[in-house]
Amino acid sequence: MPIPDDFAARLLPILDDLATTYGTPFHVYDARGIVATHRELVAAFGDAGHKQYFAVKALPNPAVLKLLLAEGSGLDCASATELTLAARVGATGDDVVFTSNNTHVPEYRQALDAGAVVTFDDRSFLDRADELPATVAFRMSPHGSAAGSGLMGDTAHSKFGVPVAELAASYREAARRGATRFGLHGMTCANELSAERAARAATDVFATGAQLAEAGIELDYVNIGGGLGIRYRPEDVAIDLADWAAAVVAARDRHFPDRAPRILTELGRIVTGPHGVLVSRVINRCRKGREVVGLDASMSALMRPALYGAYHHISLPFVGGRPESPFDVVGGLCENMDKFALDRALPDPRPGDLALIHDTGAHGQAMGFTYNGRLRPAELLLTEAGEVVEIRRAETFDDYTATVCWEPAPVLTAGVAR
Ligand SMILES: Cc1ncc(COP(=O)(O)O)c(C=O)c1O
Repeated sequence: MPIPDDFAARLLPILDDLATTYGTPFHVYDARGIVATHRELVAAFGDAGHKQYFAVKALPNPAVLKLLLAEGSGLDCASATELTLAARVGATGDDVVFTSNNTHVPEYRQALDAGAVVTFDDRSFLDRADELPATVAFRMSPHGSAAGSGLMGDTAHSKFGVPVAELAASYREAARRGATRFGLHGMTCANELSAERAARAATDVFATGAQLAEAGIELDYVNIGGGLGIRYRPEDVAIDLADWAAAVVAARDRHFPDRAPRILTELGRIVTGPHGVLVSRVINRCRKGREVVGLDASMSALMRPALYGAYHHISLPFVGGRPESPFDVVGGLCENMDKFALDRALPDPRPGDLALIHDTGAHGQAMGFTYNGRLRPAELLLTEAGEVVEIRRAETFDDYTATVCWEPAPVLTAGVAR
């Protein structure tokens, strides 16, 4: 989907200069848009007892995390590194939820010491944890409407969560180990654009929570995870956040008429996704069975098209009036899947043109990697005041080799670790 009008109106007049003086490629994010979407999300729940924790994995840049923290958002972390990042930007105690899987005891310890709201992804962790948090929550495996999605898998095959049939016993075990307060986590959807479907999946989580309440496990909160979608394709219809939140709150109140648990969300994509764009330059144009356009960015800056066949809108903002025809748009990595688009109608791209890849504000740069020495680009932020600030420089050869031991040293000498 083309970037929101307000972002375009503030970015496009300065983009040519910016790209020329700073150099491409880079991601640029819109602070105003990110804050506005966060506020819209919070307003949709009103005073229903809700807290949003931004999924750090979507855009783990300190400047963006601080922006959201200042708006009252919490942070959702899934690894020790994300926990450390959250601490570094000032998120403390229950401003952090820790929703990991295949968890290492030391990272659980780190979350516990930070006072984070911890979710256990598997029941066995109760045995491995030497100490339980004040409130024990389990993630339920995909169930009901959430089951069967390609991204999360079904109950029998998902790597995530505790099977619903084992939940009550898991909470009883936690209570036996001293837990007195409880929460429930259910990741309800993935890139879902239907408010009705997303709310139905959340309803399934509340229904499970209500069954637990009947079994004597009172829930303080239900975390319905992330997964709301954004309009990647121009023809997509945006999810109505107000409709979705109203249906979620109604479902919560229906299932818990007497004592309503708080609602937690850990949304990432919808908060930052549309408010980012990857700015690159056309460096090549050739014919290889089909017309090919080469950019100076590659999948190291945006994996989603290669990984999921995901659609990202591409535009050439300054070429006006050229006729459109189909092109494959590629990066320079030695992988045939390093393609941003196949058969995409574009206006006769020529070397030197700026090409924008839209909707890169979530799960974009964050999923990048450095295979083939194709390094990750910079991240810039367009501030509310209209300034463009650098919030991560582009990687360099020194970054690429920062972990290299140029003078290899033994780690095992005569069978003894150093
Ligand atoms: C446990 C969990 N929470 C939250 C999210 C954020 O999802 P999204 O960015 O689609 O809202 C994810 C995404 O992978 C997740 O796995």
